[in-house]
Amino acid sequence: MTEEPSFQTLILAAGRGTRMRSRTIKVLHDILGKPMLAHVVEAALDSGSRRVIPILGHQRELVEEWLQAQPYAEQLDVALQLEQNGTAHAVWAAREFFDPEITYTVILSGDVPNMDAASLKAFLDAAVDSGADVGLVTAVLDDPASYGRIIRHNDRVEAIVEYKDASPEQRAVNEINAGIYVVRTSFLADALSLIMERPADNAQNEYYLTDLIAVAAERASETGGVFGWPVEDPRQIQGVNTRVDLARATDFARRRINEHWMLQGVSFIDPERTTVETGVQLAHDVVLYPDVYLSGDTIIKTGSVVEPGCVLRDCHIGEDVLLKANSYLTDSQVGNGSQVGPFAHLRPGSDIGRGCKVGNFVEIKKTRLHDGAKAGHLTYLGDAQIGEGANIGAGTITCNYDGEKKSVTEIGAGAFIGSNSALVAPVTIGDGAYVGAGSTITGDVPDRALAVARGRQKNIEDWVDREK
Ligand code: UD1
Ligand code: CA
Repeated sequence: MTEEPSFQTLILAAGRGTRMRSRTIKVLHDILGKPMLAHVVEAALDSGSRRVIPILGHQRELVEEWLQAQPYAEQLDVALQLEQNGTAHAVWAAREFFDPEITYTVILSGDVPNMDAASLKAFLDAAVDSGADVGLVTAVLDDPASYGRIIRHNDRVEAIVEYKDASPEQRAVNEINAGIYVVRTSFLADALSLIMERPADNAQNEYYLTDLIAVAAERASETGGVFGWPVEDPRQIQGVNTRVDLARATDFARRRINEHWMLQGVSFIDPERTTVETGVQLAHDVVLYPDVYLSGDTIIKTGSVVEPGCVLRDCHIGEDVLLKANSYLTDSQVGNGSQVGPFAHLRPGSDIGRGCKVGNFVEIKKTRLHDGAKAGHLTYLGDAQIGEGANIGAGTITCNYDGEKKSVTEIGAGAFIGSNSALVAPVTIGDGAYVGAGSTITGDVPDRALAVARGRQKNIEDWVDREK
């Protein structure tokens, strides 16, 4: 009986990514809610690596800080490549991790973000079955661009030639190197020291990890040789070198996420124009209209409809909620059966109960609307408690800020606030109380009382005839 093979993963992530033309290094660029590197780390962990070791260089403090904050930080180690002398040199910088007890070392590129765990696992299984020393993912492309070319002889992979070093005949090959490898750890240690002993005489004067293939192919008679695994969908292995590539990789990730949710019962009126970031959770019978953007840890429950132009970050939306067009919600909750918008703004800490109505041009912040409360038009509610079934008239403003501190407004259950009222906090409006339209309320209103705080109307009879 052979023992189950064990896996660890190294991730190449030390380069600056000059072609991105950015102050931020390449692998920290975001794809749908998390850095490119996170997509790669998570695929590595989910495909069975017990330990993942990003190889860092440029801006390593930033990357490490980010990695440390992840729930899987325990499973990560870091290697440092202080000068970037090529992909083999990068792996060499992680040589302290070449522990032959771990059967296989997977090597991934931090700039190849869309290889998902299931495909990676399929590749690893096939490579292990083949008994090869080195397995690599390849792809056949219509336009092989500047990828490394796979050189085969009688079908067997013999070498990878980098585009810059390739002859015209080699450049005509359209099978390319994806930058995803699995290497028997014992072989990796031997082969890399061989590559690092030789001068790096190629077009880029770099130590190429791709030379590993030729070393393994040469030894193929004694050992397992090289195993090439053409990927089914080449979009999964698209590398990111420029912002054009980044947009393309994001587009593929978006399609994949949207298709996932459609198969879970979510309707997209136009999936090309709807973005659902990686952390979002959707229930069946949610309907998303075009130009909806959902991000953070947003959750939307069954039967809710999100109309065009809504943007949600870190929001929990209950069942059968209607979010009308162009509403902007952050860090907020909306209870079952409520309606919000069009053009509503729920700022952090808005907690809308069940069966509530928040209408057009209403801004809410750090405020709880208890069940059935309504604020239909042109209102600002900040640092407030709005009682069950209360009705907030058009143009009501909670004056929560006196220039120094924020104060709380409390409005009782069933209260009725007349249009264009200013409620100067701290202030309490009792249960079932009424506020007359146009009032500026500076003192508490008892339960079931009517407060009117404005100049009394005076009519001057025949004034026009007399004066004009
Ligand atoms: C590399 C491969 C190429 C393959 C392509 C797939 C080599 C020599 N070439 O080319 O065959 O088709 O990926 O996308 O491996 N890095 C370091 N340290 C270094 C150099 C690079 O950490 O010293 C990192 C980069 O940050 C990047 C990754 O390795 O994340 C790949 O490097 P990059 O320069 O983008 O290689 P490519 O030219 O794309
Ligand atoms: Ca690259």
